Amino acid sequence: MYKGTSLFARSTQINNTTHKMRQRLIQTLATQNIRSRLVRPAPAPLSIENQLTQKLASSLFNGDLIQAKQEFRWMLDHLCTNSKHATPSTGIDFLKANPTIAEKIGEYVKERTENHKPLQYILGTQPFGELDLIVRQPVLIPRWETEEWSLNLCTMLNNVDLMSKVERRKLRILDIGTGSGCIALLLASKLPKGRVEVFGIDQSQVALELALENKARNKGLLQNPVQFSKLDIMDDNAVRSFVQAHGDVDMIVSNPPYITPSEYAELTPDVKNWEDPCALVTEDGLGLQFYRRIIELSVASESSLLHSTAPQNASSMLPLYAQVPQLVLEVGSHQQATLVSRLSDDYFKHSRILKDLAGQDRVVIAYQSDINL
Ligand SMILES: C[S@@+](CC[C@H](N)C(=O)[O-])C[C@H]1O[C@@H](n2cnc3c(N)ncnc32)[C@H](O)[C@@H]1O
Repeated sequence: MYKGTSLFARSTQINNTTHKMRQRLIQTLATQNIRSRLVRPAPAPLSIENQLTQKLASSLFNGDLIQAKQEFRWMLDHLCTNSKHATPSTGIDFLKANPTIAEKIGEYVKERTENHKPLQYILGTQPFGELDLIVRQPVLIPRWETEEWSLNLCTMLNNVDLMSKVERRKLRILDIGTGSGCIALLLASKLPKGRVEVFGIDQSQVALELALENKARNKGLLQNPVQFSKLDIMDDNAVRSFVQAHGDVDMIVSNPPYITPSEYAELTPDVKNWEDPCALVTEDGLGLQFYRRIIELSVASESSLLHSTAPQNASSMLPLYAQVPQLVLEVGSHQQATLVSRLSDDYFKHSRILKDLAGQDRVVIAYQSDINL
C-alpha cells in the first residue's frame, strides 16, 4: 500500500515536473525558433527544377550540380522544342506554369536515375558532325571518339584528288557494322560531291532500319550515294554474295565490337541494360575477333572485300587510291591498337595508330602501299 501511494506520488510528481519541463522546453524552442527565424529565414521549398537537378546530381554525377543542370537543360530544351515552347532562361516558374512539361521531365529524370536509360535514348537524337541522327534502343549510340576520327578521316580524304585521272571512278568505301549509319552517312556528307560511293553493312535488322531512317532524315546533307545492306561478316557465303552483287571496295572503315567478355561484365547499367551486346562484345578475351575477320576479308581471295591497290610490278603506275588508307579501324585501348597494328602489318605494307582527343590510342589505319597521307 505504502509502496503504492509513494509510487503514485512520485509518478504524479514526475509527471508534473516533466510537464513543466516540457512546457519550458517548448517555450525555449519557440523563442529560439522565432529568434532564428528573425536572423535566418526558413529555406524556401525547393523548386521542381532544383529537386530534379539534385536528384540527377546525386544519382548520376557524384553530386556535381553543373553536369546535372546541363543534362536537365537538354531535357527541357527537347521538351520545349517538341511542344513548340520557347525554352525559358530558368525553369522555376516555367515548370510551375507548365505542369505537362514538369510531369514529363520528372519522368525523364526517373528514367535516367532509376532505369539508367541513356540520355540520348531519352532525347531520341544525337548530333554526329553536322548530321542529326535518330538514336533508338538497342542500336549503339554513336560515341564522340567515333565522331572525332570520322571527321578527321574526312579532312584527310578531302586532301586527295578523289576524282583521279588514273582511276576515273569513284572511291568506294565500306563501313562494316554501320549501326545507326553514323560513319557511312558522315563520309557521304563531308566528302566532295559525286566522288565517293559508300556502303554500310550490319548483321542487325533493327540497326539497318535505323540507318535507313537516318539516311532519309539527313538526305539534304548527303553529297554522295549511300547503300545499306544486311550482311553478317562471319558468314563466308553471305560475304561472297555481297562481293558478287556490289563489287569490292577501296577502303574499309569500321568501329567493330571490341569489348572483351570480362570488360563487358564491368560496364555500367546505362550501357549493359540498353545497348545491344552484339554491338559491343567479342567472344575472345582480347577483343580481336572482328579485327582478325576484317583483315582476313581484306586480303586477296575470291571473296575479298577489298580491291587490291598494290601495283602488279615495279613499273606499273601506282593507282591514286593507294594514297588513301585501305583499313581504318577503331580500337578500344593501347593494347588492342598494338595488336591490331601487328595483325594488319602481316598483310599490309604498313600501319599507323592515331590517338583521340583524350590522348588514347583510338584508330589503326593500314595501307597497301608505301605512299600515304
Ligand atoms: C560498335 S557498333 C558500331 C556502330 C556504329 N558504326 C557506330 O560507330 O556507332 C558495332 C556494330 O557491328 C554490328 N555487328 C556485330 N556483329 C556483326 C557481324 N557479324 N556482321 C556485321 N555486323 C556486325 C553490330 O550490329 C553493331 O551495329
